[in-house]
Amino acid sequence: MTVTETAPNTSGYKTFSIGGFTFSRDEYFVTITWPTGSHQMAIDAFLRSVQRDVAWGFFYGIVNFDEVFGTMNHYGNVDMFAGRFNEAYRKAEVDYNENFPHDDLLGTFKAILSDWTNEGYDPFAAPMETGSAFGPNSGSNEDAITRKRVVAQRMVGVPGDEELRSDEAGFPVNRGFADVTQEEPTVNAEPGYEDQVCAFNLYAYLSRSDVTWNPSVVSACKESLYCPTTEEFILPVIHGNDRVEWFVQLSDEIQWDVEDRDTGAKRARVVMKAGDVAAMPADIRHQGYAPKRSMLLVWENGSNRIPEMIANGEASVHPVEF
Ligand code: PHB
Ligand code: FE
Repeated sequence: MTVTETAPNTSGYKTFSIGGFTFSRDEYFVTITWPTGSHQMAIDAFLRSVQRDVAWGFFYGIVNFDEVFGTMNHYGNVDMFAGRFNEAYRKAEVDYNENFPHDDLLGTFKAILSDWTNEGYDPFAAPMETGSAFGPNSGSNEDAITRKRVVAQRMVGVPGDEELRSDEAGFPVNRGFADVTQEEPTVNAEPGYEDQVCAFNLYAYLSRSDVTWNPSVVSACKESLYCPTTEEFILPVIHGNDRVEWFVQLSDEIQWDVEDRDTGAKRARVVMKAGDVAAMPADIRHQGYAPKRSMLLVWENGSNRIPEMIANGEASVHPVEF
């Protein structure tokens, strides 16, 4: 695998190549080239997507940065593509796909993110809570782009597991959640069970999240993972599911555009208000819009057998038949 990076260009940014793909940036845009074409994205949107792909280790299934470019996770190796899930590109036969070892592509994306993120720009933050991504190279923001992802082994708050958030730990209550009560539950365990019973206030925990569109595992029961997240503005990626996902809207509102995963044809628009529950099928891609900071519970089954179970008909692409 050939991975190269060049000396800085006139805007001060390095150009990165891996396999047949090259990534360069100027003051406003990333330009991606591959053997049969090229593509541009606004740099703020591109960095928000790279940040998610890096933090999630390529996530479940497909991470489309937009309707042209993205990655598909095969859990150990990963495809990077242009136009593969875009009917027009496919018909014109200018689509392109290349497979990479997980660590090689992750390393390249991390290097791009580090070199191209300027001081004051936080790709995880809502647009009103960060500085600008644009302009010539100026400084860096390593603390923001290397945040540790919360992955509870059992549950947040269990001794030895992920810790609760607090002012002291550097997680103040977000401006959108000033009215969320910060009281923690009282646990009255039967004698002998004191260190086995645990509870925490999930709303208080989420009110202190400093990132957007970043599901984190707050509890795990075998393969059943509760991955709540706080949302504001637009989900940076168009996620192509490789398994069913349940959404529980815990507060405020998110609107979802749901499309066919392979062609991008529109399938549904889902308006979720506080208390609504939706089951997202395994053969769609979706992107969410949150006009205000909101809380969303994403419920995943983390089993790595699910894509194969769907492929061989053992599992349905629909989570429920009505
Ligand atoms: C999803 O694709 O299901 C997803 C991703 C990130 C979020 C919420 C949902 O923050
Ligand atoms: Fe999804």
